Amino acid sequence: MNTKLLSSLFLAVLLSGTAGAALAERLTISCGRFPAEHALCREASERWAEARGHEVRVLAAPALAEERLAVYRELLAVEARRLDVLEIDIVWPGMLAAHLIDLRPYLEQQEEQAFFPSLIANNSIHGRLVALPWFMDLGLLFYRRDLLEAAGLDVPRTWRQLADAAVIIQDGKRANGDSRFWGFVWQGWRYEGLTCNAMEWLASWGGGSVVEPDGRVSVDNPHARFALQRAGDWIDIISPSAVLTQTERESLQQFAAGNAAFMRNWPYAWAELSADDSSVRGKVGVALLPKGGVRGVHPATLGGWQLAVSKHSEHPELAADLVRYLTGSEIQRERALRGGYIPSRPALAAEPALRELHPYLALIDREDLALVARPSTVAGARYETLSELFQVTVQDILAGSADAETALSALADDLQRLGHDRRAR
Ligand code: GLC
Repeated sequence: MNTKLLSSLFLAVLLSGTAGAALAERLTISCGRFPAEHALCREASERWAEARGHEVRVLAAPALAEERLAVYRELLAVEARRLDVLEIDIVWPGMLAAHLIDLRPYLEQQEEQAFFPSLIANNSIHGRLVALPWFMDLGLLFYRRDLLEAAGLDVPRTWRQLADAAVIIQDGKRANGDSRFWGFVWQGWRYEGLTCNAMEWLASWGGGSVVEPDGRVSVDNPHARFALQRAGDWIDIISPSAVLTQTERESLQQFAAGNAAFMRNWPYAWAELSADDSSVRGKVGVALLPKGGVRGVHPATLGGWQLAVSKHSEHPELAADLVRYLTGSEIQRERALRGGYIPSRPALAAEPALRELHPYLALIDREDLALVARPSTVAGARYETLSELFQVTVQDILAGSADAETALSALADDLQRLGHDRRAR
């Protein structure tokens, strides 16, 4: 569905609300990237409403981050009063801050200290805490444990090992007539997910963060060039050219159907792959993404979603209460247990019961993990443009329609200009 149609539908649902009962107020929250996630959010929000004696309307949000951003922007621009709570991506606080309330006045003393400090810092824009962190995402490597074992292979620790293992497993499957089987699936469509994948490749080879926290444009460097060329080499060898049109959903479908040996995805995939009706249940392992070389680091792009209150809400206090409830320990524990979401509270993320159920939680503590933050803090309102420019360049290199040297040098020029564009601030 195109974004315009989607946003008109969303707007129509939103504006069609009737007034709530005399005493009870009615809040509207938008949340959930896909049905199971939306259902968890709905249940928890309804529990809040029942406990507080209010009503809550839970709207599904568009699955893709950029589609959701377009819808939210449209609503915030018309100052829609009926959307109270929004679920925003970790890279959006700087872009949406002007439309969000400062939550600090609604928090108890020390309350924000129970969250990971880096997430609180991420959501603090010019001293205003514009969202509370709800869950964290990390880019992870999912692998078919059974196939690796059958081939006598270890879990790959470098991209080189991954490519070698992928070829061996893929050749074996193809020899058995399985022509749909591929070694490695990931997200190569031109959207935010590609930014996440490509930043991991760059980090793993020491290629920097595109724009560094001090504002220096670093993307035009030999390690970044090498990282992107290397990923381009996977296409048609271990990854289908269709990866260039795939998002998280398609990668997961392919892997869950038993048609891939390795997949890069976010933690929620673990819960889906371990579900009773999963055809690969019990056959999957999860690890950190490979390092560039032996001296490289294991990269994981930091993703995740936050809950924020619209400045146009007629019930900011109640809306902030809903945000505090949903981001509180009880709901986060339940979401971690049932959906595999990584809590935004360190105390919860360390709970043994959760760690036992979700093996990737222990990966957070690994010393050889390099968390990759997208340059959204330094770019602020310009982040969306920065990311789009990066995606176009990366896709051109992956598709072989541009050589990495020329393309990264042109990208660096564009990013310099963007950095100097005062209107975009
Ligand atoms: C996940 C991440 C989010 C990221 C998006 C890209 O939803 O949590 O941070 O922007 O994927 O597709």
